[in-house]
Amino acid sequence: MINTDEVIADLDKRRKLGTAFEDILQAAVHGLHELDERFHWTGIYELFPDNVLRLGPFIGAPTDHVFIGVGRGVCGTAVAERRNINVPDVRLVSNYLACSTETRSELVILIRRGEKIYAQIDIDSHQVAAFDEGAVVQVQRVADWLASLYDSRERIGRAP
Ligand code: SME
Repeated sequence: MINTDEVIADLDKRRKLGTAFEDILQAAVHGLHELDERFHWTGIYELFPDNVLRLGPFIGAPTDHVFIGVGRGVCGTAVAERRNINVPDVRLVSNYLACSTETRSELVILIRRGEKIYAQIDIDSHQVAAFDEGAVVQVQRVADWLASLYDSRERIGRAP
């Protein structure tokens, strides 16, 4: 087990070393997954300009939901409604897209800077209501760190 300070320190180190963007995302997913033994599937979906979320790095069982349109499922609804979503029991959500039949709760935290949504962290647990306030705060800290990474990449990519 590791804590969020360690995850963020590791990400800071990689960023200073100039590690490739995709490798930092991968490291973030690994770090998040290790934060809590109740996290059974941890991944990042990136939002593309065609309003489709595409699965990036993840840990856990392979999923059929590699592409999710904005407005579909829990992940797409979070983007459409521009808010984080914490589902204590996925069996009670009608538009839930199943990744694993074992999943009971799901957390989606947006990676955003103000109005700009870059991506999202999606975590599934086999336990009902796994995402208590403490867990949400930890995941949010990593999401905020990643938002700053996406933001700086976008500014570097922009013409002067
Ligand atoms: N459950 C999500 C789909 C992603 S998989 O769980 C990894 C949803 O309803 O959007």
